[in-house]
Amino acid sequence: MGLERLKKVRASFAADLAAAGSDPDAVETLRVAYAGRKSGLLQDLTAALRELPNEAKRDYGQALNELKKFVEDGLKQAKERAAASAGSSSVGQIDVTLPGRALPRGAEHPVHLVRRRIEEIFLRMGYDVESGPEIEDDWHNFEALNIPPDHPARDDQDTFYVGSNLLRTHTSPVQARVMERTQPPIRIVVPGRVYRRDSDLRHSPMFHQLEGLVVDEGITVGNLKATLETFLHALFSDDVQVRLRPGYFPFTEPSAEVDISCIFCDMKGCGVCSGSGWIEILGSGMVDPRVFEAVGIDPERYTGFAFGLGLDRVAMLQYGIPDLRQLFAGDQRLTRQFE
Ligand code: DAH
Repeated sequence: MGLERLKKVRASFAADLAAAGSDPDAVETLRVAYAGRKSGLLQDLTAALRELPNEAKRDYGQALNELKKFVEDGLKQAKERAAASAGSSSVGQIDVTLPGRALPRGAEHPVHLVRRRIEEIFLRMGYDVESGPEIEDDWHNFEALNIPPDHPARDDQDTFYVGSNLLRTHTSPVQARVMERTQPPIRIVVPGRVYRRDSDLRHSPMFHQLEGLVVDEGITVGNLKATLETFLHALFSDDVQVRLRPGYFPFTEPSAEVDISCIFCDMKGCGVCSGSGWIEILGSGMVDPRVFEAVGIDPERYTGFAFGLGLDRVAMLQYGIPDLRQLFAGDQRLTRQFE
């Protein structure tokens, strides 16, 4: 009976091997079924040797060894075939004639575009670009800028507090920081994020400003006006008119609000300029001597001017974006337009 069984197993292995072809999973299943250490068929057939009468053992043993070799060789070849076809079939799955997949390209944010343009204008005029911390202390954000604790200007700038510090409500504290560490001449612009507790169509709790500061001997209102006109002509167009109106800021004296003629309606009056023909674009003034005193610059010797403008507002004007919050919604339908 023993030899008959070996023959059958040999035949069934040959059939199974052919069926498995070059499928690596099928070949592995076959290996486990026939040559598996725990419960493979060859294992059973080897165990059966012990049960045979002694005179049958020799022939059976010889035939069993041949069968083992047959199975081993068969599995070995099948494994090689499976490995070879695995390599070629994964290459076969790539259709090299398909068009490539385009990588999505990022775009510069409109506020960043505006910031870079303005920096470039001032760099050409010999200014340095400065920066300062977004988490500020009361001294730099308010006190050094002539805004004492009970000053009503603090109400206009509803502040986020961070422990005993605060999120800066404007970029003006960087003026104070730079003047504390440098003596004139000073010529800087400071772009950056600022924060106020405010949120509607025209206000976002985080927005961007750019501060300017010039300090030297003999700086006058004439320098302020000429600088701002040069800047606003470069930013918008040589055709825009620039107008200074009296204003109030605690850190400048005198102070001025600066308007440009409306770039949308040619001053006929439209929704953007609220029918006035003018668009308010920045705040400015001559540095208040009390600010110089606070930061250790001699107000008898030096004068200076400062200005601040909202970068988001410029981006809205230049790109016709109606709602400030659209700038920070992260909606790619907006940002894709700047690719
Ligand atoms: N810091 C002011 C604000 O946030 C803007 C400003 C006005 C800055 C006049 C200045 C300035 O430097 O001179 O509204």
